[in-house]
Amino acid sequence: MSDFVKVVLVTGGSSGLGKAICERLAAQGHKVYGTGRKVTDEVMAGYTMMAMDVTDSASVQLAVDRILEREGRIDVVVNNAGIGIQGPAEDITPEMAQKVLDTNLIGPHRVCRAALPAMRTQGRGLIVNISSIASNFGLPYRSFYSASKAALDRYGEALSIEMKCFGIQVVSIQPGEFKTNIASGRLRPEKISEAHTPGYNKAMEVLGSSLHYSRDPDELARVVAKVIDSEHPKATYIVAQGMQRISVLAKKLLPGRMFQRMVGKHYE
Ligand SMILES: NC(=O)c1ccc[n+]([C@@H]2O[C@H](COP(=O)([O-])OP(=O)(O)OC[C@H]3O[C@@H](n4cnc5c(N)ncnc54)[C@H](OP(=O)(O)O)[C@@H]3O)[C@@H](O)[C@H]2O)c1
Repeated sequence: MSDFVKVVLVTGGSSGLGKAICERLAAQGHKVYGTGRKVTDEVMAGYTMMAMDVTDSASVQLAVDRILEREGRIDVVVNNAGIGIQGPAEDITPEMAQKVLDTNLIGPHRVCRAALPAMRTQGRGLIVNISSIASNFGLPYRSFYSASKAALDRYGEALSIEMKCFGIQVVSIQPGEFKTNIASGRLRPEKISEAHTPGYNKAMEVLGSSLHYSRDPDELARVVAKVIDSEHPKATYIVAQGMQRISVLAKKLLPGRMFQRMVGKHYE
C-alpha cells in the first residue's frame, strides 16, 4: 500500500501516542480521523477528531459509518486506544480485569468488526494494533496489562491469516516506554494487601524512576508512518531501546525460570 493518500482511523487520538500518530500521518498528507471518548467533532492540525468509546459497540459503529459516509473507504485502522493497570495480581478484581480486557482486546475487535466489511469490499486494508513489549512476558504487578497485550497479539496473528485472502494485512507494533499519560491513568486496586505491599512498592519505585519514560511519542509515530507506506509490512515491529529491547530477545533465548529471575531482580 503506497503512493496514495490513505484514509486512516486512529483510536485514542486525543493523547500520547495516538495524538502523535494523528499529527505525523496528517503532516505526511494522509486523511486522518482520530477518536477519543470526550471529544466532539473537531478539526485539529490537519486531521479530524470524533467521538468513539471502544468499549461501546454502537459508538464504534457510528464513528466508522461516519468516516465511510464522508470518505467512501477506510484504508488503515490504528487500534491505539488503551489503558494500563497496576497492582498485585491477587488484588486485581475480576471487574478491573474485565475493564482492561474490554478496552485493550475487545475494543480493537469491535473496531475491526466495524471496519473489515468495507476493507473486504475494497479488496485491501491495513490493521495496525498498538500492542506493547509487555505482551512478550508477564510484567510483575502489571499482570493484566501484559495479558491484554499478549491476547491482542494472538488475536491479530489469527486475524492476519484469515484476512490475507481479502488483501487485508494485520501488523502488531510493540512499543517500549514512551512519555504519555498512560501511567497516570492506570487502573489500581483500592487497597493493596499487606503481604504484597513491600514488593509492589519497590516495583512501582523502579517503574516510576525509569528513564525510558522520556522518549518522544513521535518516534513511535514515525514507525507507524513507515508501516503504512510499506508494500509488505512485517508482522511485528518492536520500537524499544536498551534493556527493553534486549529483554524481548532474552525471553526467547533463556530458560523460563532464568528469565523470570532476571525480571524479578530488575524490580527488587
Ligand atoms: N506510553 C507507553 O509507554 C506505551 C508503551 C507500550 C504500549 N502503549 C500503548 O499505546 C497506546 C496509547 O497509550 P498512550 O501511552 O498514548 O496513553 P494515553 O496518553 O493515556 O492515551 C490513551 C488514549 O486511549 C484513549 N482511550 C482510553 N480508553 C478508551 C476507550 N474506552 N475508548 C476510546 N478511547 C480510549 C484515550 O482517549 P480518551 O481518554 O480521550 O477517551 C487516549 O487517547 C495504548 O494502547 C497503550 O497500551 C503505550
